[in-house]
Amino acid sequence: MRAMPFLQFPQGFQWGAATASYQIEGAYDEDDRGLSVWDVFSHQPGRVVNAEHGDVACDHYHRYREDVDLMARLGLQTYRFSVAWPRIFPFGYGRVNEKGIDFYQRLVDALLEKNIQPALTLFHWDLPQGLQDLGGWANRDVADRFAEYAALLYERLGDRVSRWITLNEPLIFTQFGYRLGWLAPGISDLKMTAAAVHHAMLAHGKAVQAFRASGRAGEIGITNANTSFEPADDSPETLRATELARDFETRLYHGPVYGKGYPQAVLDYYASEDAPFPIEPGDMEVIASPTDFLGVNLYSRQRVLPDDARGVGYRAAAPTLPLLPMGYEAAPHSLGDFVRWVSKEYGRPKIYITENGVCDNTEPVNGAIDDHLRIELLQGFLAGLHGAIADGADVRAYYEWSLMDNFEWSFGYSKRFGMVWTDFATQARIPKKSAAFYSEVIRRDGLDA
Ligand code: NOJ
Repeated sequence: MRAMPFLQFPQGFQWGAATASYQIEGAYDEDDRGLSVWDVFSHQPGRVVNAEHGDVACDHYHRYREDVDLMARLGLQTYRFSVAWPRIFPFGYGRVNEKGIDFYQRLVDALLEKNIQPALTLFHWDLPQGLQDLGGWANRDVADRFAEYAALLYERLGDRVSRWITLNEPLIFTQFGYRLGWLAPGISDLKMTAAAVHHAMLAHGKAVQAFRASGRAGEIGITNANTSFEPADDSPETLRATELARDFETRLYHGPVYGKGYPQAVLDYYASEDAPFPIEPGDMEVIASPTDFLGVNLYSRQRVLPDDARGVGYRAAAPTLPLLPMGYEAAPHSLGDFVRWVSKEYGRPKIYITENGVCDNTEPVNGAIDDHLRIELLQGFLAGLHGAIADGADVRAYYEWSLMDNFEWSFGYSKRFGMVWTDFATQARIPKKSAAFYSEVIRRDGLDA
């Protein structure tokens, strides 16, 4: 029998897992935490499946030590988490809440004790409600408030955290939060969307500048949401439409970070809808402040067709692959494809896969969770990633979303992404079969082809 080829990852490649504050912490009103837009939104009728919310979530705020022990047992080398801004500034600005800082210092210390490198996301969607009351991301001042909040964290955590992510997925929290209204704050207004996008990107730039000014050692970057866009056929119209999809959903959030500005087609569209981007002189230079890495989140692909009836000029073609519970296709080739594309588009930046994973709702049978679909798709994602690295992409780390089942935003607890099962009634954590698979990948620094 021939040995199966082994996909060896480069030396020093790091394996981790990711979570976010509102999705796991709970303890929403403890230790002087302020309210976030998600506390308010999730308690409004009709916003979240089964009227669920993150009041308790995985109770990680009280169980962080056990959770860090669990990470160590799984063999994780790095852990990406986010800080809840309203724990630090209950109203978003002004008075600092020392108890909030203390929690994250304890969490980081626990990670370091286990030799797990922290990767800290400054903003993963839980904007303080106090700032939302002033217009949220649609108000330009939010960019300065964000930079002040970031600067405080560099000062108070920068002696032990050296990997910083400014924003998680500006595409999603602006387009779904301000245009479609499916996520907090639940607004549908194109003018506010344009403002939110621009102010989010400006906030990113200001936080990068504040990091350099802090003199802290370490690295900083942004994490974007991505889909691998594929033309549904090879007609010139479809190829053009695919570029438009990339303009509206990818380049809009990457281009300005790499000094390429916002795509003209996007600026023209918003202007034509009386929702111009509120760009002031000097803004684009701030947004283009050099970063150290690019954070890539990717879950699937989308086939694209032209659509002249829609202002944006493109639409999604019908899926051809099996659908996952989230409604998108099971397309493991999409990770390698996207990484190749983005690496080339932006001059081969250092890349961290800050999220990739699978929604697989397999339930326990006799106490064991056989999530073989997740394993199968992870194998495909990682094989694709390995190929992209072999082709020259500079990928240094992979964070599986997620460590454990958690609050999946407007889907509540109905979508499970964890490698560890969370029993939300008892808060028991049960590693799934895919956790054993992942531990083995980590141990061997690779996988069988
Ligand atoms: C992207 C988001 O960053 C995260 O919060 C979410 O839970 C996962 N993807 C899965 O949908």
